[in-house]
Amino acid sequence: MPCEDYLTGAHSHDIPPETVDTEIQIILDKLSAKPDFNPNQLFNPDKHLAFKDEYFEETTVLSLADLGIKKTHTKPISGFGATYPFPLLTKEAIDIMKWEAFQKENIAAYARLTNPDFSLKTNRFDFHIGGYVNQGKAPFTESVYAHPRIAKIFSKFIGVDVQTCYNYDTNHVNVALADSSIPIDAPLNTEAESEEGEEKEFDISKVGSILGQHYDSVPIAAVIMWECPKGRGGETVIIKGDEKPLVIPNIAEPGYCTLLQARVVRHIATKPNSNSNRIATVCGYCCAAPEILDTSALTSVRPSILPRSIHDQFYSEWFDFRFKQLQRYLAAGQSKIKKDFERGETFNQLKMIEFCKEAQEYLYDSWKEMECAGNDPYPPALFETPYSEL
Ligand SMILES: [Fe+2]
Repeated sequence: MPCEDYLTGAHSHDIPPETVDTEIQIILDKLSAKPDFNPNQLFNPDKHLAFKDEYFEETTVLSLADLGIKKTHTKPISGFGATYPFPLLTKEAIDIMKWEAFQKENIAAYARLTNPDFSLKTNRFDFHIGGYVNQGKAPFTESVYAHPRIAKIFSKFIGVDVQTCYNYDTNHVNVALADSSIPIDAPLNTEAESEEGEEKEFDISKVGSILGQHYDSVPIAAVIMWECPKGRGGETVIIKGDEKPLVIPNIAEPGYCTLLQARVVRHIATKPNSNSNRIATVCGYCCAAPEILDTSALTSVRPSILPRSIHDQFYSEWFDFRFKQLQRYLAAGQSKIKKDFERGETFNQLKMIEFCKEAQEYLYDSWKEMECAGNDPYPPALFETPYSEL
């Protein structure tokens, strides 16, 4: 993307009026036509949480070891790999979140078309919406992620306590809309499509994707489905340790959630093979413990790569998050020094050097991928590197 474009709001990637006035209008009309639809409320777990404790047992959970992933390019936050979809939110909750995201003022300010340089087979129906949640533009959505019960459920699956990262990666909406001028849910003629009853091996190079093979830039991705495509396609595909694909089964309905340690598990999100809407939202999570620094990156979210990251807001939020994390880390270290001394322990020089080095690297990692610092080519070679060569 040209520098002057992303510095001034990436308006070359604005959602075309045709899409706003037809496909997006259809979404809003369908919601407002529902007799009991009430967007003016906040998240109430008794009403909006579909999760039941037995899902901890019933949901398929894959560890990194189950996926055969032994080497990773950065430190995993736990041995957790991924879950199959499980019910998290009710349809009413999803309707309100959808209503908030697709408001036309949010679309104008916060939605931008997918960068065609990095996604296969995308067009005016493919875009992202992000950065609007904690700006007072989506009070219900904000209250969902702010509720402690949601982070508690995720923490139990992941095996460590997690928290949301920063606003721009809280509820990043991936949108692939059906073309309203042709029959809805009709199969599309894609090369990756199978004949009825025929199971072809999944071919990564042939399938349309919303974002090609990649790692996410946040440690954990919580993917919540808003609209699920009919038929095949639209799945998340994990690349296992043996470099073979594992298709996460399309058992999801609106409100289902899939958790993925997406910073270390390579994956792709496929496009629907039918003329259906596929709308999924991703929320980034990182370790809640103050003594552990997050492993977030700018790789796939920096403004020159991802047009929905509006430059001034994005970097202000990013550095606010990174500095807060570092302050917590330093405060935890500071309090430990005092306690160790009071207990009469020998001052550990080597440990202190390690501690300081981590803080130094964290600061360096915060800016090294910024456009004016390096602006490395995208996608990076890392996205294609086999696990065994990491
Ligand atoms: Fe991803």
